[in-house]
Amino acid sequence: MTQACKLAAGNWKMNGLRADMAEARALATALTAPSCGVLLCPPATLVAAMADALSGSAVMVGGQDCHAAASGAHTGDISAQMLADSGASYVILGHSERRADHGESSGDVAAKARAAHAAGLIAIICLGETEAERDAGQTLDVVLRQLAESVPEGATAANTVIAYEPVWAIGTGRTPTLEQISEVHDALRANLPDSAISLLYGGSVKPGNAAEIFAIANVDGALVGGASLKAADFGAIVAALDAA
Ligand code: PGA
Repeated sequence: MTQACKLAAGNWKMNGLRADMAEARALATALTAPSCGVLLCPPATLVAAMADALSGSAVMVGGQDCHAAASGAHTGDISAQMLADSGASYVILGHSERRADHGESSGDVAAKARAAHAAGLIAIICLGETEAERDAGQTLDVVLRQLAESVPEGATAANTVIAYEPVWAIGTGRTPTLEQISEVHDALRANLPDSAISLLYGGSVKPGNAAEIFAIANVDGALVGGASLKAADFGAIVAALDAA
């Protein structure tokens, strides 16, 4: 079996002005030939500038969303090809904040992933249960249904990454137990269309808990929000993944 690639991905969400690119540059300078992939996904306004600033470094750049259509009358939206044209190589899709704030369904996410693949981008498809769903014992049902409905045909390890992000762990400082993460990642691995697709954990990953999370079998990296905004914190998480 081909091994999944390790990836540390930072999601800046709606944070980051041009001045904050200093953090991205500091990260790129601090990283000397990491063995894992390192990715920053800034807001769309910074994708092109960051891709230029980090060109030739170990840090790759991605978007946080794209439209399902290739072009056309969609005011305010951006296409996968525009992201690729700006220097992005990845795009985060179906983050729970987009599912909640913009009513994105798993079908919408699959359509966006098809567009990402057509533009040559690697889609990071996010899924995860709410706290109510976990309390009701529905976690595996929910994430496996999201996996089946959000991942389009043709998804392989070369064009798709899956991020398991429990909604209640995002930005809260709370994380599932290592056993709970392991249970979900094992179930995801068993149901992937290509078993070499990388599986990221996301939700309150910090320098202090990264190593124990990366030691879990079937965790191939992390999708990091708050802790990706500072080069020192994200660099420490990258180092923990490199050492895993
Ligand atoms: P967090 O966010 O690391 O701030 O919890 C993770 C995410 O939403 O991708």
